[in-house]
Amino acid sequence: MSATPIATITGLGTAVPARLVTNADFEKYLDTSDQWIVERTGIRQRYIAGPETLTDLCETASRIAMAGAHITPEQLDTIVLGTISPDRRLPATACELQARLGAVNAAAFDIAAACPGWLFALAIGEGLIASGRAQNVLALGAEKLSSVTDTTDRSTAVLFGDGAGACVLSPATGDGRGILSIVLGSDGNLADLLYIPAGGSTEPISEKVVRERTHYIRMAGREVFKAAVLAMAKACDEALEKAGVRAEDIDLMVPHQANLRIIEATAKHAGLPMSKVMVNVDRYGNTSAASIPLALAQAVDEGRIRPGSLLLLVTFGAGFTWGSVVMRW
Ligand code: ACO
Repeated sequence: MSATPIATITGLGTAVPARLVTNADFEKYLDTSDQWIVERTGIRQRYIAGPETLTDLCETASRIAMAGAHITPEQLDTIVLGTISPDRRLPATACELQARLGAVNAAAFDIAAACPGWLFALAIGEGLIASGRAQNVLALGAEKLSSVTDTTDRSTAVLFGDGAGACVLSPATGDGRGILSIVLGSDGNLADLLYIPAGGSTEPISEKVVRERTHYIRMAGREVFKAAVLAMAKACDEALEKAGVRAEDIDLMVPHQANLRIIEATAKHAGLPMSKVMVNVDRYGNTSAASIPLALAQAVDEGRIRPGSLLLLVTFGAGFTWGSVVMRW
């Protein structure tokens, strides 16, 4: 028997910066090629912020989500933003967003769970709704990874993009639509495979840090790749089991968009054909916490997700952290 939803997404919105950066743009100054990037990752372009702040992107995405949910900012009681690239270290970008929106009744905070940040935000929102502490939660995943990416490092510079995704989460209405299961996990033992060495309180920003460029993301790509495939496969199995549904019942898998080869391996493990998998890594690159909402929104726009569609979301990122969700749209 499948699970009964407690909370459901009533509005979804996304935003990306105006500036489009193609693989050819990297060829001009890095020892890389469009062919390598497409073959190894599936990425063809990404959007990189110019004047836009993370709050700007979040505001645009949030207003679209609230319009879809037919609610006003005053009706929000919680704003939770998954990000590892906030506008400032203090205060939380969610608070700046709360002020910008005029969400005067909302408590606002950021959480750091890297790429799974939006799924972690959804889980927090669902928990608040289940406990009766919240009615309308604005859950966001948003990143300006360009602010923590070393543009001179070809092994990371070509991978990441900027963007924001927001949804309004409200109590399920009993029509079967909503979140059926959530699985979250972490393994901090592997933190140093994907991390920002300095700029935190252990080694605050200094001339040395800037000179050695240790305030930027460092990633052992091959090791992360293997860990991502294993963790995402396991997370899919667990979310399906917890929801009480079978892989063949899934209408669309919406995975984290980091690398087309990771997506293909995850789909294969779940026994899903690629025709049932949403892929837009070619368009946005890896936007970390914004990745799944950007893919969801595009799938909705393209008519690949309709009311009643059964979805499997799955993601993996720095920490390591991972997460999966089964939901009926
Ligand atoms: N252009 C050309 N060559 C490159 C580039 C580039 N942009 N980047 C690396 N290479 C080279 C390497 O130097 C290496 O050369 P060598 O064999 O002479 O040493 C060769 O390509 C192969 O490098 P690998 O790292 O083994 O390449 P791989 O096939 O593993 O692809 C990639 C690298 C794309 C990073 C892949 O490992 C990957 O996608 N990893 C997982 C990323 C991920 O999922 N991250 C998690 C989420 S991110 C977050 O949480 C913020």
